[in-house]
Amino acid sequence: MKREQTTASGWRRGVAIAGITAATLLGLLVAPSGAEEFSELLAQVDEALRTNPSRVPREALASCEARRRSAVALYRSGHDARARRRLAFCTEVLHIPARAATAEDTSSSGPTADELQARATAELEGALRLTPDLTNGLRIYRECAACHTPEGWGLENGSVPQIAGQHRTVVIKQLADIRNGNRDAVLMLPYAAAEVIGGKQSVADVAGYIDTLEISTATGKGDGRDLELGKQLFRENCARCHGESGEGNAEEFVPRIQSQHYNYLVRQFEWIRDGKRRNANPEMADQIHEFRDRETHAVLDYVSRLEPPVDMQAPEGWKNPDFANR
Ligand code: HEC
Ligand code: HEC
Repeated sequence: MKREQTTASGWRRGVAIAGITAATLLGLLVAPSGAEEFSELLAQVDEALRTNPSRVPREALASCEARRRSAVALYRSGHDARARRRLAFCTEVLHIPARAATAEDTSSSGPTADELQARATAELEGALRLTPDLTNGLRIYRECAACHTPEGWGLENGSVPQIAGQHRTVVIKQLADIRNGNRDAVLMLPYAAAEVIGGKQSVADVAGYIDTLEISTATGKGDGRDLELGKQLFRENCARCHGESGEGNAEEFVPRIQSQHYNYLVRQFEWIRDGKRRNANPEMADQIHEFRDRETHAVLDYVSRLEPPVDMQAPEGWKNPDFANR
């Protein structure tokens, strides 16, 4: 089946838009301070660009590099604050931990992990009870479509996940986690922040809209070399939570993972296993902690090829009619 996917340049446009918004938002958060801070920040950014400690996608690195260049130019022409804002964007995109936050000041400044989790849970519980307004949901979704595509299919290279067909409960939970700092998704945050799209009613609305999208099975897959092992591992380690076909479980907030892009699955799986995804399910993390590369690739290749029931799949050539004038 051949389906249109948004091109790489569409993705880059999305990143560029996100960049402006992120820089603007961050600008509000970054208090002006000494100029020597600039060189320290620059050194941190350069190190992160070299080592990519959080394994962010190449597009994110490129987007940071561009801002680094403009930060240096701005700094040289005396625009300190603007220069530091450019670098702050990199800090976010590359997931560089704030060096200033030492053990002693974390207690007095900023919410703790437990507090962030509590805020996310409160928003989740509130949004789950609300009736979605689909017209407003579509209005919000137009922004999301810049990255997730109008159909909600994401990108085959896995930099952006398919969200079409994801359980409404899971979409709400992930949005609440991301908005409240309980899961990192820095490129997306500027679009999903409460200041930008509104409170829990907006979360309910856009999740309700996403629920109307049809699932693509023309998603990124692995190399297909180890599928027998993948199947066995899936049955033994995953099916009890994610279901026999990877359909997930709406009531338990277990994501649908069938027909998800392979590279996205790998990234999330490794982040969950290695403790980088704060909202991970601890029982899952425990279940997979001994998975090495071969097992990981085998099981996720198998998962990427699992399909939802035919009646949930987008018909050949389906395009989101709400985006008819694109
Ligand atoms: C700038 C690009 C971008 C925009 C705009 C964007 N997203 Fe995302 N979104 C992403 C990326 C990238 C991820 C995956 C993050 C990761 O790898 O951890 C993601 C992840 C998600 C997830 C989690 C999916 C999962 O399987 O756990 C949901 C839900 C989501 N986005 C919904 C939205 C909604 C709703 C909007 C609009 C309000 C939106 N996104 C706007 C890029 C974007
Ligand atoms: C104990 C139940 C449990 C088991 C066992 C489990 N998972 Fe999960 N998994 C979850 C839950 C719950 C989440 C969502 C966590 C959250 O809220 O972010 C998740 C998230 C994921 C994600 C991220 C999905 C996304 O959309 O971002 C992937 C990929 C995944 N699991 C794959 C697997 C695979 C493969 C296995 C088996 C090797 C497995 N899981 C075993 C419960 C489980």
